[in-house]
Amino acid sequence: MEYALTVKGVTKSFSHRGKKVYALRDINLEIKKGEIFGLLGPNGAGKTTLMNVITGIVLPETGEVKILGESNTNKAVFDRINGISAETYFHWALKPLDILRFYSKVYGIEKKEAERRIKELVELFEIKDILDTKFGMLSTGEARRLAFAKALINEPEVLLLDEPTLGLDPHISLKVRKMIKEVNKEKNMTILLTSHYMQEVEMLAGRIAFINKGKIIDTGNVEKVKMKHFNTYDLWIKPKTIKEKTFLKDIGFRIEGENIFKQMKSSEDLSVILTQLHSKGMEIKDIKVKRPTLEDYFIKLSK
Ligand SMILES: Nc1ncnc2c1ncn2[C@@H]1O[C@H](COP(=O)(O)OP(=O)(O)OP(=O)(O)O)[C@@H](O)[C@H]1O
Ligand SMILES: [Mg+2]
Repeated sequence: MEYALTVKGVTKSFSHRGKKVYALRDINLEIKKGEIFGLLGPNGAGKTTLMNVITGIVLPETGEVKILGESNTNKAVFDRINGISAETYFHWALKPLDILRFYSKVYGIEKKEAERRIKELVELFEIKDILDTKFGMLSTGEARRLAFAKALINEPEVLLLDEPTLGLDPHISLKVRKMIKEVNKEKNMTILLTSHYMQEVEMLAGRIAFINKGKIIDTGNVEKVKMKHFNTYDLWIKPKTIKEKTFLKDIGFRIEGENIFKQMKSSEDLSVILTQLHSKGMEIKDIKVKRPTLEDYFIKLSK
């Protein structure tokens, strides 16, 4: 298997008031080419530190990071990756168009091609109207959209996104998520993402790792990790009239107002239950199923 990104035995501590605090403890990760991988975990878990170790901003005490088969200390790797963090800032007096042109130069992109890419990114992130506004005057969301455009200027093969939609309004968040999906699909871009929006992770990531106090405590396919920690789901049915109460009790239902409720096992088939109710002549007016979400999973693992 060819991995786009591997993290092996990474440990990093910071000293805080003379005390050693471990931000990362023996982190191991293998991210496949073309996958969207989510890093989850409570505040202070070590996600940003891990991102910074991967990009080389923070040096780990032990362990190594390989990007596209090369050590992340290898300078040639920088041209093939990019990303955004919650703290992507530019000089206050610089204007977005200058910033994008500057980065095109940094990446050695030929002028005509650079202008083509800038035009495309400006449209994608709807930043046309602010191209001539000083960075210091931009709103949070505008600055973030600019940071996103900058992150795609070199058409990176590996994209590191630390809370990509933080502070964005729902309309732009939706666009950003769509765009993340698109570049991943069309350009087979490998994406490592952290987010506190569980719906976002659920929508984007195939696999996740859950980090707590600097340690990976769970990892795997999103659906599978949920299944592993929750083996039930909730079912409410609203019949036209509630009858056959003994039968209902026998098959595991309890009455809740106008509804009957049952906690179903993950393996239990909904159609079997419906057929049973139907056979007793019960007319069903409404049905509600609540399966565990990634948010339920997050809360469970954070405890
Ligand atoms: N430069 C630093 N100096 C000292 N301590 C640091 C530094 N950077 C991070 N830490 C500490 O390392 C731990 C992990 O922080 P990190 O920013 O990686 O968490 P995070 O998972 O990104 O949290 P959040 O969800 O709030 O973004 C925290 O305890 C933090 O205080
Ligand atoms: Mg963080």
